[in-house]
Amino acid sequence: MSALKLALLATALPFLVLGAQKRATSETFQLYAYGEGIGGPTLFYADGYAYVGDPNLSNSTDAAAVIFSTGTDRTWLGSPNTTNTTHTPSWSNVTMFVPAAGSSDMRVGFLDSGNSSDSTHITTGFSFYGNTAILIGTDGSLETMWTALETGAGVYALYWNETASGQVPVTLRRVAPSSPASRRR
Ligand SMILES: *[C@@H]1O[C@H](CO)[C@@H](O)[C@H](O)[C@H]1NC(C)=O
Ligand SMILES: *[C@@H]1O[C@H](CO)[C@@H](O)[C@H](O)[C@H]1NC(C)=O
Ligand SMILES: *[C@@H]1O[C@H](CO)[C@@H](O)[C@H](O)[C@H]1NC(C)=O
Ligand SMILES: *[C@@H]1O[C@H](CO)[C@@H](O)[C@H](O)[C@H]1NC(C)=O
Ligand SMILES: *[C@@H]1O[C@H](CO)[C@@H](O)[C@H](O)[C@H]1NC(C)=O
Ligand SMILES: *[C@@H]1O[C@H](CO)[C@@H](O)[C@H](O)[C@H]1NC(C)=O
Ligand SMILES: *[C@@H]1O[C@H](CO)[C@@H](O)[C@H](O)[C@H]1NC(C)=O
Repeated sequence: MSALKLALLATALPFLVLGAQKRATSETFQLYAYGEGIGGPTLFYADGYAYVGDPNLSNSTDAAAVIFSTGTDRTWLGSPNTTNTTHTPSWSNVTMFVPAAGSSDMRVGFLDSGNSSDSTHITTGFSFYGNTAILIGTDGSLETMWTALETGAGVYALYWNETASGQVPVTLRRVAPSSPASRRR
């Protein structure tokens, strides 16, 4: 429900977002998830899908935090942050997607040169509302429908517009937690 409310709120202010997007074009950024009981873990890649949490805890040998840059048509391209990782990721320059409405798999993930985009994967229109990651819909609406499902201690799979399995709404921001209480655990 709160993800939906955010989407409606943001719809009122599209021009601010377009202005913010210009500044972000040449920057790189990481994304951090905030929600009930989720205090800002990093978005990471594992086996083609997006997770938030400590990539060291992932069972995937490919897991690493994602450093994003902005491509054409507001695509978000990801590369691994290999600073102090326990894994040795082999992926690079992957394109983030959210599933189109009605897809059988509502997880957020990444495409590479081996699986190019199709109508079930939305890869364009990503932007920021302030520091909050949003998707600009084809009708110009601003959507923030990120949800997270815990899949292991401290690791959450990231979903889009899906709460059926107990996913909780999260906000994705490009700002790391200022008081890193969650890191002390
Ligand atoms: C795309 O291919 C990669 C391997 O090249 C795989 O890890 C990933 O799961 C695939 N993604 C989708 C959405 O099929
Ligand atoms: C990569 O990760 C390290 C350790 O978490 C962090 O200090 C650094 O800022 C990250 N690099 C980028 C480009 O975000
Ligand atoms: C992951 O493990 C490496 C090596 O042990 C360590 O330097 C790094 O701080 C760990 N990252 C996190 C987020 O705990
Ligand atoms: C990476 O690990 C080195 C060696 O343990 C440490 O000095 C450094 O502070 C770590 N950097 C980050 C960003 O965690
Ligand atoms: C990264 O992927 C994008 C989109 O597929 C492509 O346009 C770009 O040329 C690629 N960059 C590199 C360095 O391969
Ligand atoms: C969210 O999912 C519902 C149910 O499948 C669908 O009707 C709606 O269009 C979706 N919204 C977005 C923004 O994908
Ligand atoms: C990793 O694998 C173990 C054993 O199968 C499982 O208990 C744990 O939940 C997995 N962790 C993640 C993050 O999926």
